[in-house]
Amino acid sequence: MGKTIIISNRLPVQLQISNGEITAIPSVGGLATGMKSVHSGGDSLWIGWSGLTDEEIPDELAPKIDKALKEHGSSKVNLTSSEVDGFYFGFSNRTIWPLFHYFLEYSEFELKNWDIYKKVNQKFADAILEAADDDDTIWVHDYQLMLVPQMVREKKPDISIGFFLHIPFPSFEIFRTLPWREKILEGLLGSDLIGFHTYDYERHFLSSVRRLLGLDVSFNDIYMDDRVIKVDSFPMGIDYKKFNEAAKENKKNQPENQSELQRRLNKHKDADKEAKFFLSIDRLDYTKGIAKRLYAFEYFLNKYPQYKEKVRLIILAVPSRSNVPQYQLLKREIDELVGRINGEFSTVSWTPIWYFYRSMPFENLIDLYTSCDIAWLTPIRDGMNLVAKEYIATRTDQTGVLILSEMAGSANEMNEAMLVNPNNFEQTADALKEAITMPKEEQRERNSILQKRLERYNVEKWANDFMDSLLDQKGKDFSHVAR
Ligand code: ADP
Ligand code: G6P
Repeated sequence: MGKTIIISNRLPVQLQISNGEITAIPSVGGLATGMKSVHSGGDSLWIGWSGLTDEEIPDELAPKIDKALKEHGSSKVNLTSSEVDGFYFGFSNRTIWPLFHYFLEYSEFELKNWDIYKKVNQKFADAILEAADDDDTIWVHDYQLMLVPQMVREKKPDISIGFFLHIPFPSFEIFRTLPWREKILEGLLGSDLIGFHTYDYERHFLSSVRRLLGLDVSFNDIYMDDRVIKVDSFPMGIDYKKFNEAAKENKKNQPENQSELQRRLNKHKDADKEAKFFLSIDRLDYTKGIAKRLYAFEYFLNKYPQYKEKVRLIILAVPSRSNVPQYQLLKREIDELVGRINGEFSTVSWTPIWYFYRSMPFENLIDLYTSCDIAWLTPIRDGMNLVAKEYIATRTDQTGVLILSEMAGSANEMNEAMLVNPNNFEQTADALKEAITMPKEEQRERNSILQKRLERYNVEKWANDFMDSLLDQKGKDFSHVAR
């Protein structure tokens, strides 16, 4: 068996150039953080976009860029700034992302962007074709590259291709509104195996295939010409050990080795042992429900005023896709909401919301996960939400409460968390109160079950299950199924 080629828009690192020097910054987002653990363990090549456009790379730095990526087992697909505009900011993040997350009103159907999406998908497919031997396995990731499987299949009919979608696949009624819906399905069907996070997304996809392409579907097999394509759900896990051990190390740190953030958190906790920290961590994205969470926090403070000066909400929002107007508007809305709520409720000794708009190093993420009593993660819609899993993995003494949206893919596997509807402020405020007063024994009971499950179904198991299933599918003889 040959090597595995991982292909996604985002690479594990993003390159930046300043003063002629190249720096590699770890990518944020579930795909990159999850696949990084898989990639570092095996014989794989990761192909993707470096984060720099052709115009930003001076000729003399090009070899250095290739070298920097090689250190991360990666190689790049070159994109011009107009390709990045049409493919990444345009079709991927102004058409598919909102549509697949049920934000139909945000979805733009621009023929020009669709043409660029096709062109750039062909570039990624060409990069695979150049690097792949016949016995290699190709693993294509996510909504930016849905046409790639078919493009590779046309040139290499027998090669093994798997595709995994990291975001929801919407119901037929939503998907059918896309002008290029058949083309997207046909692109995906170039794969041997198509994976989703949940059974619901899988069902939605099969229903669209049946109704839009009229193909035979039996259970989770799709019959197309002389091929059978398998569709299945593989809920993505995390690198449990990495988070759990980092949390143990963090606990051992003497004050002089602690980060500034950790020292500040400890100081506040020592000053008032009863005070509770709520934690909210997401990319700044309208699907994550950050603005709704702020309104719900305001509602909570008004409904339960006894918790004023007793609770604090830490919001960590990572800058994301800031060229897209909806993200700019959301940034403004959140800035204003935080300002208004802090203005309304702050006292001389208490600021209810601490708001950080930035990416943080891994160590600081661990500081926050381990220091906050309640993780409050309530996306309006989310393919999975790995942050919820990471929070639980770091709770080494098994205390801590997770309030999680029913609309996150991870809610399917995290029934022991407090599941809420993010649109229901009444329910959310009551859940916050219950979380504050939840006895430690109950917290431990819930978290010990969650931890066992997360440890067993970690990201390595997820990748192995997917790869085994792909291998199995490829090994089958379908010569009798031509229909
Ligand atoms: P999404 O993929 O939509 O961004 P997930 O919750 O599935 O959402 O994954 C987010 C990933 O990004 C997690 O692995 C998390 O650790 C990482 N992350 C989130 N916020 C930050 C931050 N401020 N700094 C660094 N990494 C972050
Ligand atoms: C989600 C998507 C990924 C994407 C990530 C970060 O997890 O499923 O494909 O990489 O968000 O978004 P970005 O646009 O910065 O790559």
